[in-house]
Amino acid sequence: MAKIAIFNQKGGVGKTTTTLNLAALLARRGADPLVIDLDPQAHLSGICGITVPRSERSLYAFYSSTQSLTGLIQESNAGWKIIPSHLDLSKVDTQYGKGPNILNRLNAGIVRENLNTDRPVLMDSCPMLGVLSLSGILAADLVLIPISTDYLAIRGALQMERTLRALEHVLKERVQRRYVMTRFDTRRKMSWDIDRQLRERFGAEVCETRIAENVSVAESPSLSKDVFSHAPESRGAQDYVSLLTELDACGCLK
Ligand SMILES: Nc1ncnc2c1ncn2[C@@H]1O[C@H](COP(=O)(O)OP(=O)(O)O)[C@@H](O)[C@H]1O
Ligand SMILES: [Mg+2]
Repeated sequence: MAKIAIFNQKGGVGKTTTTLNLAALLARRGADPLVIDLDPQAHLSGICGITVPRSERSLYAFYSSTQSLTGLIQESNAGWKIIPSHLDLSKVDTQYGKGPNILNRLNAGIVRENLNTDRPVLMDSCPMLGVLSLSGILAADLVLIPISTDYLAIRGALQMERTLRALEHVLKERVQRRYVMTRFDTRRKMSWDIDRQLRERFGAEVCETRIAENVSVAESPSLSKDVFSHAPESRGAQDYVSLLTELDACGCLK
């Protein structure tokens, strides 16, 4: 099934929030998702109740060659599967960045270990463009790009587009992507301006769904919860249902 990297070079745009809530919803629907936390800050692992004391039990061990991906899978507090991160992952670039096929290693591991045979795989990226985020993008069938609708949104989207084009130049194929607006505030003219500009520039690659600025989405991680267990009736929960439905309808989850 689909491997989806959630990526934007900008921090604080809703990558982790989107990964968390899509994974939670997929799990509720019986899809048995696997999440790979590619961010050395390990925010998602922390929200899921998993803090690995030593990097040997994190994705780092896969890169340092001591572990298979399968051996690193843990269960989140909501019951879905996650390969946790650890701060040591920030050393992967300097320690292993020059190794042969390093950028394909994650995808090769996922495929070799049949991790996406029966389930979708979601990868939460760090904002930096390095070995980890590039590995996620190269492994992905779809790159989902959250765009927080603040005043730097368009600049961030253009930066992402430049990055993906540069990659495509090397890969000789198009990277499938969808932009999704997050923290959308209908009362702000700026949000609607960004909506219009994104759709003008990126057309059908912009999701119809906009994730609203929503207090339940914002506060659920502090309770180690996703929005569906914290506030299932909230606007934020409804928006993530719409997003998943939209991705499903366009065949992005297959
Ligand atoms: N739809 C939303 N409504 C309100 N707050 C949000 C929403 N999405 C994300 N946030 C908040 O924005 C901040 C950044 O989100 P996060 O998912 O951690 O971004 P990233 O992973 O891109 O750095 C967090 O405090 C998060 O709770
Ligand atoms: Mg994050």
